[in-house]
Amino acid sequence: SSTLGAAAADSGRYFGAAVAAGRLGDSTYSTILDREFNMITPENEMKWDTTEPSRGNFNFGPADQIVSHASAHGQRMRGHTLVWHGQLPGWVSSIGDAGTLRSVMNNHITTVMNHYKGKIYAWDVVNEAFADGSTQHRSSVFQNVLGNGFIEEAFRTARSVDPAAKLCYNDYNIENWSDAKTQGVYAMVKDFKARGVPIDCVGLQSHFGSGGPPAGFQTTLSNFAALGVDVQITELDIAQASLTAYGNTVRACMNVARCTGITVWGIRDSDSWRSGENPLLFDGNGNKKPAYDAVLSAL
Ligand code: XIL
Repeated sequence: SSTLGAAAADSGRYFGAAVAAGRLGDSTYSTILDREFNMITPENEMKWDTTEPSRGNFNFGPADQIVSHASAHGQRMRGHTLVWHGQLPGWVSSIGDAGTLRSVMNNHITTVMNHYKGKIYAWDVVNEAFADGSTQHRSSVFQNVLGNGFIEEAFRTARSVDPAAKLCYNDYNIENWSDAKTQGVYAMVKDFKARGVPIDCVGLQSHFGSGGPPAGFQTTLSNFAALGVDVQITELDIAQASLTAYGNTVRACMNVARCTGITVWGIRDSDSWRSGENPLLFDGNGNKKPAYDAVLSAL
């Protein structure tokens, strides 16, 4: 196949991109998006600071633009993200009462998921809850006020709202099997599966340096998959878009049956949150870079 999305679909996978609503009117951008990608993650538009800037005031306008675009162009959506310490409005991070925070968290999950019910293939229910270099959760208002059980509670609430959506845990620095953080997330998923806590997938963000994935990346993917969850590469970008690194990343996914898709974190280098590192598959003019060909031939 001659596009990323079609090549991924040849093996039952998808190839996605993070999209910014504000760029959809740029025809160079949207032409590439609609030609190459069949899954979309909103880069910022479904984050809490946008979707519920003050308590009970929901703002779905920017994300709705992306969801409409996807539905008009036959692309599926990954919802990103419901519970995260980042881009979290101050009114949430200052809640100190557990009963209040529990109901605020569950109301947020319920209202956002209901708004998009039937339109989201997979949700990043909880994002980045583990601490770097540790098997433990990081400090956050959710952890500090609700305790360890907040992740389980978020997943149970999410399943009750939209039973058809896949529910994922998403994080970075869980690509190297020997890292403590990877082991912490693995233990959580194993425990969830053992106790029947609903979880369907693990997203590995995969924001890599120019060396690409750590040794053992494929082992990490297959070990998570062996727990009975799908795995996805959810936010891929690689410093200087090294061909070898991109090829190795894609091949690791292709070698694991339950690695069901890959999403790159932006389209052109100029769209990237790491734009100084030119980490994406298209240059600022929208031309394919050498890494594009490395990815296409690895799919
Ligand atoms: C980044 C966006 O790309 C930026 O535009 C924004 O300023 C900050 O967030 N992990 C995640 C993503 O889960 O949501 C982050 O996206 C990148 C790191």
